Amino acid sequence: AEVHFHEFIIQETPVKRLCRVRNSITVNGQFPGPTLEVRNDDSLVITAINKAQYNISLHWHGIRQMRNPWADGPEFITQCPIKPGGSYTYRFNIEEQEGTLWWHAHSRWLRATVYGALIIRPPLSSPHYPFPVIPKREFTLLLGEWWDRNPMDVLNMAQFTGAAPNVSDAFTINGQPGDFYRCSSQETLRYLVGSGETVLLRVINSGLNQELFFGIANHKLTVVAADASYTKPFSTNVIMLGPGQTTDVLLTADQPPAHYYMAAHAYNSANAPFDNTTTTAILQYKDAPCVTTQARAIPAQLPGFNDTATAAAFTAQMKSPSKVEVPLEVDEDLFFTVGLGLFNCTTPNTQRCQGPNGTRFAASINNVSFVFPRSNSIMQAYYQGTPAGVFTTDFPPVPPTTFDYTGNVSRGLWQPTRGTKAYKLKYKSKVQVILQDTSIVTIENHPMHLHGYEFYVVGTGIGNFNPSKDTSSFNLIDPPRRNTIGTPPGGWIAIRFVADNPGVWLMHCHIDSHIFWGLAMVFLVENGEGHLQSVQSPPLDLPQC
Ligand code: C2O
Repeated sequence: AEVHFHEFIIQETPVKRLCRVRNSITVNGQFPGPTLEVRNDDSLVITAINKAQYNISLHWHGIRQMRNPWADGPEFITQCPIKPGGSYTYRFNIEEQEGTLWWHAHSRWLRATVYGALIIRPPLSSPHYPFPVIPKREFTLLLGEWWDRNPMDVLNMAQFTGAAPNVSDAFTINGQPGDFYRCSSQETLRYLVGSGETVLLRVINSGLNQELFFGIANHKLTVVAADASYTKPFSTNVIMLGPGQTTDVLLTADQPPAHYYMAAHAYNSANAPFDNTTTTAILQYKDAPCVTTQARAIPAQLPGFNDTATAAAFTAQMKSPSKVEVPLEVDEDLFFTVGLGLFNCTTPNTQRCQGPNGTRFAASINNVSFVFPRSNSIMQAYYQGTPAGVFTTDFPPVPPTTFDYTGNVSRGLWQPTRGTKAYKLKYKSKVQVILQDTSIVTIENHPMHLHGYEFYVVGTGIGNFNPSKDTSSFNLIDPPRRNTIGTPPGGWIAIRFVADNPGVWLMHCHIDSHIFWGLAMVFLVENGEGHLQSVQSPPLDLPQC
């Protein structure tokens, strides 16, 4: 196993997109940031040096960080942010994970430009992919979102007004909007393939707020992995990814030599057609005839923005390659409502209450709208024995009232309470969480991400979860293993995991506008008996608040 050393200099860099230059926070001046390439069993040592004017922290999305939450990164959860002029070295191991993950800033909206791929290949001791065809080449596609304005200003504005933040001005593939956006045609990315070759595409939704459909004109995709876990291969025309999710697909260049669009557009948003809201790159056969400006590439067919059926059918096909060890009985049976809400404004303030009907937008889990601490991180407070004033451990295992979650919810239930609440789990307890979307304000797909864990997705359905009926249909044989899963709009999803990683682990919706409205909570997983079942001691350079 190898140790990989990197220096990540976080700095302001001019980046030109959509006809204009905007100073953006980048790593080493690159946008998207550097790709980390490692093998299973390797270690990473990444020194982050903050030369920007914002507090920042970095998160290695999907890395389990066994007993090592200090390297996980979410600000005020496992560490205090790195202040301007400061630095922090993230040290962690890759343990039994293979496939595609990514890294991103985990402080306010800085991840809009601070992100990159983290590729984990099989170890040298057994270097082969378990795929039906061994790919000839590999491409990594980071799907993202670009704002004309500084994303931190967009966030601050929404925080001030209580209204929904502005949507992004472009979707991007590896930072480029592509042919259909203004001033972007020249930079449209091209990926060259030879006729007959099979390539591995590592697709990552690193967008801030938008679920995306992705497809390639006239080509089938064979899904082989998701969130750095292999899947049972299946063929599909289109894949759907929520922010945070990754999907690895094989693609065989089996069509007539030509130029084909690779394209992504929004799922579950107001933008639908293949138009100037579709980001594109080009899959170009090496022996394709030259394409002149009159003859563009062949357009990709993508499902409509509201095609929940396609999204659900895609998700339903995900399975582990063979039988896996899912907890059959559970010690902790948790039921979490995830959804939006609205805070009433006590003194009507037209400036600050620009949500629906003079309210402010909110979001919650079990009616608790999560507030990030400011004075210390939860990890530091917990390990220094001073949780008072930073967090409490009374997060409710079920919502305060049962109601018709996806029906016509009475107005009185729309207003959550605020709090920084953790739910305590005993070491090695077997946990089931039902994530239930609500129709408060609107039903929506919430891509829920759990830090420090991978979980099995054992069931899903539309409407309200019904334990007596739905539990019997759970897949406890070969469910997929994920770190981020969409709670379907107006439906529920069931996950199971064993709490074998002590520490403080954030669970949140990976749509960043929802995090800042409060769609988050933390699990506090207690230490086990011995040294090897306990959290490691904190690194000496851990930033202090
Ligand atoms: Cu990809 Cu909490 O994040």
